[in-house]
Amino acid sequence: MKVLLLGGGGREHAIAWKLAQSPLLTKLWAAPGSDAIAELAERVPVDPLDPDAVAGFVKANGVELVFVGPEAPLDAGSSDAARAAGALVFGPSRAAARLETSKSFAKDFMGLHGIPAARSRGCVTREEAKAAARAFGGRCAVKADGLAAGKGVIVCREPGEADAAVDALAATTAGRTLVVEELLEGPEVTVMVLTDGRVWAALPPSQDHKRLREGDQGPNTGGMGALAPAPLDGAVWERIKTEVLDRTVEGLRADGLDYRGALYAGVMLTADGPKVLEYNARLGDPETQAVLPLLDADLLSLAADCAAARLKPGVLPVKSGACVGVTLASPGYPEAPRPGFFIDLSADMGMGGATAFHAGTKRSGDGWIATGGRVLTVVGCGPDLAAARANAYDAIARIKAPELRYRRDIAAKALGRTVA
Ligand code: AMP
Ligand code: GLY
Repeated sequence: MKVLLLGGGGREHAIAWKLAQSPLLTKLWAAPGSDAIAELAERVPVDPLDPDAVAGFVKANGVELVFVGPEAPLDAGSSDAARAAGALVFGPSRAAARLETSKSFAKDFMGLHGIPAARSRGCVTREEAKAAARAFGGRCAVKADGLAAGKGVIVCREPGEADAAVDALAATTAGRTLVVEELLEGPEVTVMVLTDGRVWAALPPSQDHKRLREGDQGPNTGGMGALAPAPLDGAVWERIKTEVLDRTVEGLRADGLDYRGALYAGVMLTADGPKVLEYNARLGDPETQAVLPLLDADLLSLAADCAAARLKPGVLPVKSGACVGVTLASPGYPEAPRPGFFIDLSADMGMGGATAFHAGTKRSGDGWIATGGRVLTVVGCGPDLAAARANAYDAIARIKAPELRYRRDIAAKALGRTVA
């Protein structure tokens, strides 16, 4: 199959790496890709946010499958355009991607289909939002309705915090409508499935580490590390399958939403059972980098099955063991990253055979230059989480770039216990 991958971050590097292992693959293009992805795919100067350009490339080159990595091309209509141009597309329609691109849409969807979630109010004025926050006793999450690149949620624990949160978010484009919801407590897991809109096939549950600093301190980030599989209690996993995954896919079908792609549910394991905090209409970053090395199946074949609505339901086959991915970031990330430094990746990645997925780099002679806030995700795998973690950190110690910042406690809490 001739495949076009949209995107160019660490998640897309891992997707390209996995697609490249498929015996079905005859040609892989990436738009825009990255210098690291260029080792696996041909980069093409097509703007993923330009539906006409994507459709034009599909037609001109006989692209058979388009794999959409990030959410922005979905919101721009590029998945619909590629489908209209005749390609199989792994990526939901723009209308279905509203599960991610509009939090109020997602909340209405969850309410309608009985999917467990925090109680919430959609608010169009600041006064309404502040009143809703007071009704939750000030303990609430204030959320901008639209896409906000991970900056659209403020969690408020003390009365008085919510007013400032409402004012801050209401001033942003994404925050013209706000969602205010009750504060939930508990560990979080990432549940990612592939779906063809009729059935789901689950990847192993995983876990992100959103906070910048060790001990889950500091500001929220795009993700400082991930582990898979998340050591999830079996009964909780069964509840997630029936209460979240079955109901979500049935809801998509009932509502006539064309959803063929990856579906991400951010689930909080509360004392009251699992509750969905958010949906993403794509795979997670950095979770994908830790999950795909465990997948014991052909990603391209699965993506084509989703796109052609012939997916087999169930839990996808996985290799034994675990993977841990650690994000290496530029100094100053996330507020004011200072990339531009040299990275020497020439040393081998250690006995554990870790992999460095590139999120923000460009080639420079024998090495690389950091170009982004998040620079690399180094993924170690092993027979268990402890070994995977040791392999990841052993590989990181071999990378020569003293500027890189990272957390040293990724997966430390999860060792030897279940999250629920
Ligand atoms: P979201 O983008 O909706 O997943 O929110 C980002 C982060 O905010 C989540 O990963 C949680 O850590 C936190 N969060 C969101 N909603 C709630 C809630 N209702 N209660 C507590 N924390 C929340
Ligand atoms: N790791 C969280 C996300 O991809 O949104």
